Amino acid sequence: MGEPFYITTPIYYPSDKLHIGHSYCSVMADAMARYKRLRGYDVMFLTGTDEHGQKIQRKAEALGISPKAYVDGIVEGIKGLRKRMDVRYDRFIRTTDEHHEKAVQEIFRRLYEQGDIYKGAYSGWYCTPCESFWTESQLVDGNCPDCGRAVEKTTEEAYFFRLSRYQDRIIQHLEENPTFLQPVTRANEMISNFLKPGLEDLCVSRTTFDWGVKVAFDPKHVVYVWVDALSNYITALGWPDNPSDGYDRFWPADIHLVGKEIVRFHAIIWPAILMALGLPLPRKVLGHGWLLLNDGKMSKSKGNVVDPVVLCDRYGVDAIRYFLLREVTFGQDGVFSNEALVNRINADLANDLGNLVSRTVAMVERYFDGSLPEIIDPDPADADLIELYEGLTARVEGHLDNMQFSLALAEIWRAISRSNKYIDETAPWILARDEASRSRLARVLFNLAEGLRIVAILLQPIMPGTAPRILESIGVEEGELTTWTSAAAFGLYRSSTGVQKVAPLFPRLDLEAELAAMSAALPSTERETAPAAPAPISVTEASTQPSAPAPAVEEQDGDAPITIDDFHKIQLVVGRIEACEKLAGSDKLLCSTVNLGSETRTVLSGIAEHYDPADLVGKRVILVANLKPRKIRGVMSHGMLLAAEDPDGRVRLATVDGDLAPGSPVN
Ligand code: MSP
Repeated sequence: MGEPFYITTPIYYPSDKLHIGHSYCSVMADAMARYKRLRGYDVMFLTGTDEHGQKIQRKAEALGISPKAYVDGIVEGIKGLRKRMDVRYDRFIRTTDEHHEKAVQEIFRRLYEQGDIYKGAYSGWYCTPCESFWTESQLVDGNCPDCGRAVEKTTEEAYFFRLSRYQDRIIQHLEENPTFLQPVTRANEMISNFLKPGLEDLCVSRTTFDWGVKVAFDPKHVVYVWVDALSNYITALGWPDNPSDGYDRFWPADIHLVGKEIVRFHAIIWPAILMALGLPLPRKVLGHGWLLLNDGKMSKSKGNVVDPVVLCDRYGVDAIRYFLLREVTFGQDGVFSNEALVNRINADLANDLGNLVSRTVAMVERYFDGSLPEIIDPDPADADLIELYEGLTARVEGHLDNMQFSLALAEIWRAISRSNKYIDETAPWILARDEASRSRLARVLFNLAEGLRIVAILLQPIMPGTAPRILESIGVEEGELTTWTSAAAFGLYRSSTGVQKVAPLFPRLDLEAELAAMSAALPSTERETAPAAPAPISVTEASTQPSAPAPAVEEQDGDAPITIDDFHKIQLVVGRIEACEKLAGSDKLLCSTVNLGSETRTVLSGIAEHYDPADLVGKRVILVANLKPRKIRGVMSHGMLLAAEDPDGRVRLATVDGDLAPGSPVN
């Protein structure tokens, strides 16, 4: 069994309004967990729900049901959302789980008995939505300094945790372990904003409501929700009664992944509780930024949400996972917009990745009947491409180890772009014309397929559904060629099955249509308001390249600019129509004999409804001369005549002004 690796997300407040911002954290943790599993670690990935507190009690009362019935109804939805996002956790803890409640009581008892918790009276300000107490001086304009909402004055008998006792040890820990809390700016914030001004003892019980873990020796008190919640990280592992259920193996946690607004609880209060219990501290607390809408935080309380289920149903879960991890730099805030999402899908997924897969597969099919030869000599001309791929795994690992998903993806996309450029540089369709270039052609396609094998392996943690589809399309079966370590070596590609066309990985989207559909859907994406289903996705097939005829331009995305070199790949020449007749059995096709000076070609064109064949004889037209010949109704057509169509559907051939010699190039 591999080394243990324990990663946690925060446990979520049960809410029926979970938004894409909530998914950000769990997708990130999931990608990390998958990455570690692929690298052979024995992973424990914990997530769950934080179910106690006054807010939940009030909501349940308003609905006339018990708090437990209320949370039971929501927790299934939260688990379902994790599943929808392909978040594969190992354990799911609910703070209403019996063993958790008992363990929290035990923590409280131990701390009380050893003098870390004492009884006093509390007078202060409480923010119910944040479940936080504030002193008078901490309020901002009389409101909660975190969320800006109204606070309530509270005076009650309460238990206190001697947080102040741990202040110096926590400062020392943060200063001596610069990797404990990241990004490092968060550690500085903790020290200067909270620790250096002096920690006050923390009120850790309430008597004004009872939806919580009861203090075993004084049951009119319930334990403060944050003490209850933070403890989940060890109670889920069986602490204290059943440590062999995971605690012995996985504690201390390798990573607590948390949003920046709850770093304070994880970097000060949680370490203090653990110190008081005499338990080791987690190795790392990583504070991530928020995903924002243009107009501010996506807060469940502000009703300003984006429903991840609507997004996944519309764009596919891997596109959403990709967006979250590509667009937001770890530690910083990122802005979510439908436009940014659609643009990323089109540019990175449909165009860069999707086209590379479809072009590679189409060319292996076309030029080698789907299977490359067994032995293909390397070519020194490919050194830089190979070098890029050979170092890719190490660079990606370096970024993933630091949770820098956006940088890891940028590295992978650098390789994808390099491969796309390599196709243009090597022009396989030109190599294919010459039998003498056959082994070079095989090597070029081998390099492309091998690059895709490596890309697919490295994408597994982030796009777990797409990676196997790429491997399937290049005909690589799961096994030693799909292990993480095999991605570090270039040159292993083999296929027993041959390449296979799969449905386009990411259909290209029409931005305007998407924005219209999403703006209609967004205001009502909160599930309780029964969203109007967005209109069906309109898809253009730029990424499909069905039979991908050889010239590069046919394989280009219609919107992306092409270079002059790309344009020169199309051979346009002047041709004179020497004879023309309707193709037997077809209403639409004309069959022309076109004189190109040095040769005469048969060309079929779908213009029979627009021209009398006799009128075409003698016309000088423009022919795409290097188009792959196609057989239509038993007749081979060698090229294509250029024609234009106006909005009324009238079609006219493009002709040449004057009597230029047949065969003259058109530039
Ligand atoms: N229950 C507490 C955590 C207790 S952990 C011992 C809690 N729950 S929460 O449901 O409000 O938030 C869960 C996580 O979602 C937090 O890490 C929070 O930062 C994250 N996010 C909530 N909104 C977010 C965004 N808009 N963007 C990114 N993450 C966001 O806090």
